[in-house]
Amino acid sequence: MSKALTQVLTGSTDTDSDAAMQPYPGEVPAEGISLVNLTKKYGGIPVVDDVNLAIKPGEFMTFLGPSGSGKTTTLSMIAGFTDVTSGDLKIHGNPVKDVPANKRGIGMVFQNYALFPHMSVHANVEFPLRVRKIAKSERNSMIRDALAMVHMEEYADRFPAELSGGQQQRVALARALVYRPSVLLMDEPLGALDKKLRDWLQSEIKRVHREVGATFVYVTHDQEEALSMSDRIAVFNNGKIEQVGTGVELYEKPETLFVGTFLGESTVFYGTHAGTTSTGTVIDVAGTHLHTTSELKETKLALLLRPEKLFLSATDSATTSAVNEVTVSVKSATYLGAAWRYVVELPDGTSALVRTENNAGIPEVGQPALLRWNVESGVLLRDER
Ligand SMILES: Nc1ncnc2c1ncn2[C@@H]1O[C@H](COP(=O)(O)OP(=O)(O)OP(=O)(O)O)[C@@H](O)[C@H]1O
Ligand SMILES: [Mg+2]
Repeated sequence: MSKALTQVLTGSTDTDSDAAMQPYPGEVPAEGISLVNLTKKYGGIPVVDDVNLAIKPGEFMTFLGPSGSGKTTTLSMIAGFTDVTSGDLKIHGNPVKDVPANKRGIGMVFQNYALFPHMSVHANVEFPLRVRKIAKSERNSMIRDALAMVHMEEYADRFPAELSGGQQQRVALARALVYRPSVLLMDEPLGALDKKLRDWLQSEIKRVHREVGATFVYVTHDQEEALSMSDRIAVFNNGKIEQVGTGVELYEKPETLFVGTFLGESTVFYGTHAGTTSTGTVIDVAGTHLHTTSELKETKLALLLRPEKLFLSATDSATTSAVNEVTVSVKSATYLGAAWRYVVELPDGTSALVRTENNAGIPEVGQPALLRWNVESGVLLRDER
């Protein structure tokens, strides 16, 4: 482990550390974290490319994106482990580009717990306080509080090897929070855990976030995790942030095809602009005209639809002019407990996903059916493929 990393993990600082530290709970700073044209290049090639983002104080911000999209590199620049190539970085209004990692007043939790194996849970959590020369009398209550926050008080005397992965990760969280940093950075902290434990720790981390009031920046490539935890999500692709918004905004109103297809399930019709009407745009998809209420001046278009916005019915049922309608063939029907999931094949051979809570009246697998959706349900996007 590098010296800078150890220092940040443990909150250790060389000298006058208190100046950089904002104790929590305390006054919420007026400004959070701002990234201004932030760029990191390796060998002249940008891996973080002109990123602009304002993270609000006390916000739970998640960086979501595929592998190699620049999430860790961006987090690492905020932490101070990675030098900035160009652009600016401010924490609570203060420029920190030239401030060393250990003076930035941040805590950090990683995927691999990084607890000191030769120290008990108590000693691990105490370490940052000891380094910071906090009086023993004060230390014990701070350790107790931090361990209580993650429900690990009863494990104080155990060693890391005697804990499960989830318990180790909770101790790592307690150690990062014990000195009350105003910013906590987490890079895939639950990546090594099984699904059930991950779900539970997600809600624990959310609870801790509410209790401490610090700014959390959380990295994940798991869209469900991002949706369930975040105040806002920044979607990374190829070193750039494609869109920032709440989970609802990103799901309902994606601004790019990448964001729309990365977050949640979708069906996409690709076609060309075939004219505008008083109510929106007409798209030609392999000879079929589809209608949308949105407008976009692009030749190559993509119409994105969520599975719950699509309806399937028998081919002889009545229709209204407010819907789009395509004859399809039912390929599969899967019972999901609370809903049914259908895969249907469109005339051009592509498939669409349909989710419905009620399968009454839906034709059997192998039969033709009508696929319908309201004209306002489709999200019209540029075909960026
Ligand atoms: N030290 C380095 N030298 C050269 N290239 C690097 C270095 N660190 C990262 N990269 C490259 O920068 C890009 C972004 O990497 P980064 O680790 O930020 O991705 P990520 O979004 O965190 O991915 P993952 O989800 O896999 O963790 C990748 O293409 C990676 O290979
Ligand atoms: Mg990463």
